[in-house]
Formats: sequence, structure tokens, C-alpha cells
Amino acid sequence: MKEIKIESTIYVFDSLEELPKEVILLMNKAIEAREKAYAPYSNFSVGAALLLDNNEIITGSNQENASYPSGLCAERTAIYYANSQYPNNKIVRMAITAGSKKNKTTDPIPPCGACRQAIAEYEVKQESPIEIYFMGEIGKIAKSDSLANLLPFIFDKSVL
Ligand code: THU
Repeated sequence: MKEIKIESTIYVFDSLEELPKEVILLMNKAIEAREKAYAPYSNFSVGAALLLDNNEIITGSNQENASYPSGLCAERTAIYYANSQYPNNKIVRMAITAGSKKNKTTDPIPPCGACRQAIAEYEVKQESPIEIYFMGEIGKIAKSDSLANLLPFIFDKSVL
């Protein structure tokens, strides 16, 4: 028997002001995107902004549907759009913000498992890490240097 221990490092910042200017700008784009979310069923709005290596910023918000499973998360809305428009550009970083209408979320809200899997696909494809910053509506921001920290034991194309 072999025991495998997995370690992940996540950095937590108390406020946006602690982050570099370009990250604040990207998070502000994610906040703008969150305000455009279509979330009439959950009342939980999410915004995502991606910075590409050509300096293009792509944003997305969650899009819900009366047939609930047909809706899509903000992160996948943004990343699928990015790769369909710019298939040859790498994603440098991603900023995500989420908030519920019920209460102001002050703790970082991590991307769901399905979005982690989708982001992982592009991190593997581009062979370079994607920095991920995520927060609630206000307050603390968490940073992961790579999607791999958020999804250990990844399922990827190497097994196909
Ligand atoms: N949602 C996202 O947009 N991203 C996530 O990572 C988690 C959940 C959306 C889906 C749904 O519209 C709402 O948040 C509540 O789950």
C-alpha cells in the first residue's frame, strides 16, 4: 500500500487593494459581468473574466434556464467563448466573483467541480498554468497559481 498525500496552496488576500493593478482591473470586469448574470431561479449571480496572452479580456456570467440543467456557469460561459474566438491564445488568469441575493457573500466562493474540469482542459491544452482569483461579492479574495491546485487527480486526455 502506498499513501499519496496531495498538497495545494491557496493564497487569501483581505481586500482587492492588496492585489496588483491588472488583477484589480480583471476582477472589476468580473464584477461587471456578474451584474449581467441571468439567474432568475437561483438568485445567485456569478461573473468571470479571463485575460488572454493577446491582452484581450473575455467575460461571462451564469445563464440559467427554466429547464435547470440547461443553464451554464459563468466560468464555462467565458472559457468556451474564449477558446471558440481565440483558439490559439493562452489564458493567463481568470477572476471570478459570486454573490447571492439573499446575503452579501464575503468569503471567497470557489468554482464548481464542472467548471474546474472545464478550466483544467484548457490548462492542459495550453501547457501553462492559469492563475485563478475568486471572491464572493465583497471581502476576501483567494488565489490559486494554477487550476491544478483546485483539482488534484485530474482526469485529462492523457488517459484516453
Ligand atoms: N454557478 C456558476 O456560475 N459558477 C460556479 O462555479 C458555481 C455555480 C451558477 C450556476 C447557477 O446559475 C447558480 O450559480 C447557482 O448554482
